[in-house]
Amino acid sequence: MKWKYWLGAAVLGAAVLAGGCGFGRLPAVSALSNQVESGKTGEQAEIENFTRYADYTPEKAVPRGIIPGNHRHTLVAYFSRSGNTAAAAGDRSSPGLDVGKDGSTAGNAERMARWIADETGGDLFTIQTEYTYPVDYQKTVRVGEGQDMDHVHPALAGHIDDMGRYTTIYLVYPTWHYTLPAPVCTFLDDYDLSGKTVYAFNTSAGSRFADTLERIREAEPEARVVQGLSLMENETKTKEGEEEVRNFVRNHPSDS
Ligand SMILES: Cc1cc2nc3c(=O)[nH]c(=O)nc-3n(C[C@H](O)[C@H](O)[C@H](O)COP(=O)(O)O)c2cc1C
Repeated sequence: MKWKYWLGAAVLGAAVLAGGCGFGRLPAVSALSNQVESGKTGEQAEIENFTRYADYTPEKAVPRGIIPGNHRHTLVAYFSRSGNTAAAAGDRSSPGLDVGKDGSTAGNAERMARWIADETGGDLFTIQTEYTYPVDYQKTVRVGEGQDMDHVHPALAGHIDDMGRYTTIYLVYPTWHYTLPAPVCTFLDDYDLSGKTVYAFNTSAGSRFADTLERIREAEPEARVVQGLSLMENETKTKEGEEEVRNFVRNHPSDS
């Protein structure tokens, strides 16, 4: 997880040149052309958006749905490795995945999102891709990097039908390859957040927000995008980290 050392400036430069989410959603296009050229179904092409970067078998995600809160105008949407792998029950082999006996996982961004939902009463939504990322950490790194370089925005498993009723969105995500994880780009493609306040909350191994605020603003030019907090991985496991997040939220009430 020593991002500074092993990914290096080449990837950073490429990511900056590529412009992250700015290129819009390409997988539908690549899925279609794959289909025409090779007779593959859109589903197979979508699976290849994962397997062409690492050797593993993605599974179809089970959408978690929305966990309703009591503040009907606030949504907490998060992307995390948790909810996005097919980790087996009790599997603790992969750093960052705290897998419970029932197979449930609590990633760093997920913990932050749960504190925010608890504090605001907002609805909680997991951004899940239709097909899972690898359980293996290094393979996930390869898939994430490949999707970023190729501007793949993988299809999502769940959908929010009534985005119109939310005025405040807390968007919680890890930094992946110095930018937004590709599934967060898909989320921004899928919904028009114009007129809403979007609080960006982040966790990373050191890159902090990197260019993610710019990417969100590019994708949602009519939204009011506000920098929230960025916590280091370990801070998401501490009482101090939790208090920091809760205090920020208390001091920045949701729009009603
Ligand atoms: C595919 C991938 C790419 C990552 N890229 C970066 C990065 O560029 N900079 C960084 O500081 N941390 C990076 N990390 C580390 C995560 O941002 C960090 O572990 C985060 O807390 C994970 O949150 P999660 O447990 O909710 O998935 C990366 C992790 C993964 C899996």
